[in-house]
Amino acid sequence: MGSLNPPRSHLFPPASPMSPSTSQLTPSAASAALFERAQRVMPGGVNSPVRSFRAVGGNPVYMVSGNGARLRTVEGRELIDYCGSWGALLFGHTRAEIVDAVAKAAGKGTSFGANTESEVEFAERLTRLVPGMEMVRLVNSGTEAVMTAVRLARGFTGRPKILKFSGCYHGHADTVLVQAGSGLLTGGLVASGGVPPTLAAEVLVASYNSLEEVSELVRAHGDKLAAILAEPVAANMGVVPPLPGFLEGLRNLANQCGALLIFDEVITGFRFGPTTFGAMQGVTPDLVCLGKIIGGGLPLGAVGGRAAVMRSLAPLGTVYQAGTLSGNPLAVAAGLATLKLMEAEPPYSRLERLGERLAVGLENAARDVDIPLICPRVGGMFTPFFLGKPPRNLDEVKRADAERFATFFRGILTEGIYLPPAQFEAGFISAAHSEADVEACIYAAQKTFSEVSNTISWRQAATDGTPCCG
Ligand SMILES: Cc1ncc(COP(=O)(O)O)c(C=O)c1O
Repeated sequence: MGSLNPPRSHLFPPASPMSPSTSQLTPSAASAALFERAQRVMPGGVNSPVRSFRAVGGNPVYMVSGNGARLRTVEGRELIDYCGSWGALLFGHTRAEIVDAVAKAAGKGTSFGANTESEVEFAERLTRLVPGMEMVRLVNSGTEAVMTAVRLARGFTGRPKILKFSGCYHGHADTVLVQAGSGLLTGGLVASGGVPPTLAAEVLVASYNSLEEVSELVRAHGDKLAAILAEPVAANMGVVPPLPGFLEGLRNLANQCGALLIFDEVITGFRFGPTTFGAMQGVTPDLVCLGKIIGGGLPLGAVGGRAAVMRSLAPLGTVYQAGTLSGNPLAVAAGLATLKLMEAEPPYSRLERLGERLAVGLENAARDVDIPLICPRVGGMFTPFFLGKPPRNLDEVKRADAERFATFFRGILTEGIYLPPAQFEAGFISAAHSEADVEACIYAAQKTFSEVSNTISWRQAATDGTPCCG
């Protein structure tokens, strides 16, 4: 395999009192103690399932602070962060302009439950940046954005059914927790407990990237279909980009049967350019859901689209939606600061370059030791799948070796790299990552592959004909 000597540019942050040497990185006593305490008072010890590290083993790591592309754990370890709060941090941690905007807003009042000028400014900015978004409503999370979009589609069309794709995740509202990705997929659940079968029966599920399956469902149920709901790049079964023509095909099929097209851009909005992925592809849905990046790390989501549809929302229409903290001044301040930064300093060509270097570097490092690995990516969003070919849908994704990912995750964490702790998730490069950070990740992967390729199970798994897709 290639040299394990780090490239001349320093890979890890230069040694400082804050950053112990890599040999000190393994112990996680403080995190383990916290996890033990947490499990006594919180289900699974966490506030969101994938944080429990069940998919990768070991104790979850507890963080105390973040700075740029770095996280600092309770043990004082520094990690290069490729999880990025699950995609919420386009500019990394504690970017001064965002922190200052939040601090300034907090000084004026944390919540009014009444209207503010900054909400108007934020809504104006979103409607300017997203083609087809004539009106928008702010909510507190991606879940709320999709839940509202689904209710709006049902209210506007007077139809009950929703068509979604297996492996896509749209938050944890009842309707969309059927054959969902992210934590549900990691936990091996087809549908969440607590979702009434009558509700699940209104959800039609197709394979991602299969216009044939969508056409069939539209033929059979088109007159009852309120909406086709899709992640324009699937990111919650790991990164699975749309095949050419897939998004346009969805637009045409929705038009054919009079259903709305909803793009869930909670992950993809403002991720690859200063707008949505749909807009970059020239496909305009009826409704767009946003979250993550638009909140700059604070709880904020949005649903917007055609004015005729949006006017169905209360108080203009009969579709009810509300929120004590909706349009919260701190979240809106963080969101506005993020969008302003994004327009002043677009990070996208850099993210594309760093993303390409990382994906190629990881694939080469694995190839050097005969480990099948493919790293699909769009811009700086990526997933290293332990597979021979890029997957196109959930069936192909499921052939990835999640055990092998777990071994890799634990190894690379020891080397100071924090990836999302599950195979079926996306990793993120932020504007705060440097070329050296990316080289550090590739170097750490090389080292991890090399160490784990010596174990019998890894070697066997790499050569025993583990099925690959395609
Ligand atoms: C595509 C997509 N939609 C919706 C959601 C739910 O967003 P939130 O976790 O903010 O409720 C997520 C979360 O990961 C997501 O990735």
